[in-house]
Amino acid sequence: MVTIDGPAGAGKSTVARLLADRLGWRFLDTGAMYRVVTLAALREGVDLEDAGALDRLAAGLDASFPPGLALLGGEDVSAAIRDVAVTRFSRFIADCAPVRARLVGWQRAFAESDDVVTEGRDQGTIVFPDAYRKFFVTASDHERARRRHRELVARGQDATLEAVLADQRARDARDAGRAIAPMRAADDAETVDTTGLSIEDVVELLHRKVRPAP
Ligand code: DC
Repeated sequence: MVTIDGPAGAGKSTVARLLADRLGWRFLDTGAMYRVVTLAALREGVDLEDAGALDRLAAGLDASFPPGLALLGGEDVSAAIRDVAVTRFSRFIADCAPVRARLVGWQRAFAESDDVVTEGRDQGTIVFPDAYRKFFVTASDHERARRRHRELVARGQDATLEAVLADQRARDARDAGRAIAPMRAADDAETVDTTGLSIEDVVELLHRKVRPAP
């Protein structure tokens, strides 16, 4: 088990996926779980401040995460969960204690029988405290906002860099200040600053740390 935590836009997902491929391990994108619950709540009009209703919704969800995909009731929602609205409202799900507890269960079940590279905010601190290696991957907030802005524009979404940066700062502050499972580096995690590094550089760096050359 390798955990990769850190703020939005640090390139964690891509790095974790490529590192998992390289190790021949499975990849777990835990943000996708929070996003699927958010999408379902928005579609069903569930009150985002009603923890009981959100937990009942999550309990009844038919969600699965085959490699590279997110499925909701059999529908491929991999693109829909990256929407600006889902991104923005995901904080209500992230702040909801019963849903968090449920998703932690999904995450541990996913990792039960295989070697996994997992990515999120609380993987090294709460979900997998005994992981073999833990990384906290970050980058300057301008660089993270630029990356996210490029991604949104490439997907044809309309967003200014300033708006992306402002949203991201608000999300970072909430993720780090959350009462339950706040985003932070585990005491035994190694922090990796990816500012100025390419994805390939970061994957190479982490791979060397997980599998040092003999
Ligand atoms: O990493 P991401 O942007 O896909 O995460 C989506 C949301 O889920 C975001 O609000 C942070 C939250 N999240 C979390 O609280 N804990 C995790 N392990 C992963 C994501």
